[in-house]
Amino acid sequence: MKILITGGSGYVGSVLINKLIKKKHEVYNVDLDLFGNTHLPFKNKLYHHINQDIRKVSSLDKYMKNVDIVFHLACISNDPTFELNKKLSKEINYDCFENIVLSAKKNKVKKFIYISTCSVYGISKKPKITENHPLKPITEYNKFKGMCEPILLKHLDDKFKGCIIRPATVCGYSTKMRFDLTVNILTNFAYNKNYIKVFGGKQLRPNIHIDDLTNLYVKLVNLNFSKINKQIFNVGYENLSIENIAKKVKRIVSKYKREKILIKFEKSNDKRSYHIDSSKIKKYLNFKPKYTVEKAIHDLCIKFKKGFLNDSFENNNYFNVKKLKKIKFK
Ligand SMILES: NC(=O)c1ccc[n+]([C@@H]2O[C@H](COP(=O)([O-])OP(=O)(O)OC[C@H]3O[C@@H](n4cnc5c(N)ncnc54)[C@H](O)[C@@H]3O)[C@@H](O)[C@H]2O)c1
Repeated sequence: MKILITGGSGYVGSVLINKLIKKKHEVYNVDLDLFGNTHLPFKNKLYHHINQDIRKVSSLDKYMKNVDIVFHLACISNDPTFELNKKLSKEINYDCFENIVLSAKKNKVKKFIYISTCSVYGISKKPKITENHPLKPITEYNKFKGMCEPILLKHLDDKFKGCIIRPATVCGYSTKMRFDLTVNILTNFAYNKNYIKVFGGKQLRPNIHIDDLTNLYVKLVNLNFSKINKQIFNVGYENLSIENIAKKVKRIVSKYKREKILIKFEKSNDKRSYHIDSSKIKKYLNFKPKYTVEKAIHDLCIKFKKGFLNDSFENNNYFNVKKLKKIKFK
């Protein structure tokens, strides 16, 4: 298959690209490389790197030719980073989206997969949020991620098929780490500073291991989309409170370090709290996540121990907001 990924140089995309290449697919990665690119498989003949801004859709058009599948991941991918320059973030996350979809459709791409987020639900007391739950975004990042969804659905048909994935917060090791995601942040602090700061703690968060999520994406490549065309899927595994995640991190990391890890609780105004129900994807695709948050913590500890991530606090590429503060966009 010929696969075009936008945002493939990032945390999730980098793991996905390696898995697709292993399966002998040809991958075109369109990315501005905001957080670096040295980790990418440039030497592999199946890998094609296109250093380009997705907002320039007219130049994207030529790469869509003969593409079988598009995975659209590129975006300004969390709340604080979005807030740095709202106009720019909206241009990237929303304004160019319909033209990217239309470019794919015009060039006869067979499937378009839009990676949304389950943070589109905002705050909810419902014990399990299914895909039909109304979207009550509480940040601009959530709002514009959600607003792309009906645009894609409007353009899908029997020839141009697609679906929308709403992943939980991702955790675990990637060749392009992000240490600004809950499990990864806590593990980094516990392992390297012997303490964790928990802001609030009662907020509920759904989690998904990066290997489960990218295995699902790989599965979508060869799947017959007749059954899932125009569908939206939550993809999460364990729903845990931040406090609970912190306790798991403390227990596991202290075994690796043989030292005491301290949890410090602080007040928080982070109101985001939700539990998601991921039974629909199990029903439609028989997709069952296998890897726990505990496994993600173990994976990271092993990488730290082996010295893979010695710059885990200094390297700005691991922290989206820090890095974007330093970038001047054209
Ligand atoms: N990581 C998570 O926990 C999580 C959870 C739910 C949904 N998602 C979604 O999954 C996708 C991937 O997430 P991630 O964690 O890998 O994000 P990331 O920030 O690591 O990667 C995003 C990539 O997009 C690229 N990009 C940004 N603006 C661009 C532009 N104008 N043109 C070209 N490339 C551009 C960046 O250079 C980066 O490589 C995103 O759409 C995100 O909203 C992520």
